[in-house]
Amino acid sequence: MNAVTLKGLSKTYANGKKAVDSVNISLACGEVFGFLGPNGAGKTTTVKLLNGMLTPTGGSCAVFDVDPAKNPQKTHALSGVVTEHAQMYDTMTGIENLIFYGSLYGLTPSESEQQGKTLLEELELSHAANQKLAAYSTGMRQRLSLARALIHQPQILFLDEPTSGLDPESAQNVHHMIRRLASEHGITIFLCTHQLRYAQEICTRYGLMEEGRLLAEGTLDSLRLLTDSGMTLKIKASRIPETLLCQKTAPDAYEVPIQSEEEIPGIVRSIVNAGGDIYHISATLPSLEDIYFHLTRKEKSA
Ligand SMILES: Nc1ncnc2c1ncn2[C@@H]1O[C@H](COP(=O)(O)OP(=O)(O)OP(=O)(O)O)[C@@H](O)[C@H]1O
Ligand SMILES: [Mg+2]
Repeated sequence: MNAVTLKGLSKTYANGKKAVDSVNISLACGEVFGFLGPNGAGKTTTVKLLNGMLTPTGGSCAVFDVDPAKNPQKTHALSGVVTEHAQMYDTMTGIENLIFYGSLYGLTPSESEQQGKTLLEELELSHAANQKLAAYSTGMRQRLSLARALIHQPQILFLDEPTSGLDPESAQNVHHMIRRLASEHGITIFLCTHQLRYAQEICTRYGLMEEGRLLAEGTLDSLRLLTDSGMTLKIKASRIPETLLCQKTAPDAYEVPIQSEEEIPGIVRSIVNAGGDIYHISATLPSLEDIYFHLTRKEKSA
């Protein structure tokens, strides 16, 4: 059974805006799926469709074979959702909020409290468990909303920009937690994010959206094949021969596009023969960020 299935999924809003346009995606259980794309690409709309908050205007979607539009309650029992603007209660403490949301999922107060305390500890919020939410900072609220989404131990977690507003350390903690949830608990993760470097560290597959359409989908290696951009050789050297096709990125720093490692010894020899001293040299494959820009620019120039 797939964790997530989108079949020709489309959503046109009442104002005529086609936010999601015939998207097909199948995700196996345990994947950490990075759903990427510029502002307005249709990511949040897709998450809302997968949670039954919106109904499709075309095609269909399913979470563990459950159609969220037809059976929202069953979908909510399977899913946890973190959005940018999670609703919680300012006049209640952190742990009270978690106990309240636990009760909505049928947990007893003591079950919620136990699970809530574990989550608060993992998210480094134990010290604020008994503070009213009104006194939480943006980052603390964001982490509490992640705890809220996990209170009923869902099988899939939808995260819509879960680290926006977090400081680098908190963002890293959340990313580590996401990875742990997938690797140790087998939870499938559907992550909408603009933070491509983190996404490259934690995701197993990616979907790249633009203007409602899925431009590309797959693992990092399969996406690399789409870019045909080979590798980049980064060189720090006192001087390089004029004949070497390269881009100067800083004083003494150059980038040379290469197709394979076979080209490296010849390049090194040419620099040394030209009287240059080499301080550093490394070959890098295209990053997720490189692929993202390559594919979105290609789309714009087409
Ligand atoms: N309720 C709505 N009514 C009309 N149009 C909407 C509505 N919600 C979103 N849209 C439009 O649908 C498109 C997709 O929006 P969506 O929020 O899904 O994008 P996104 O990929 O999540 O963007 P971001 O990265 O900014 O969060 C945008 O053009 C947006 O203006
Ligand atoms: Mg969004």
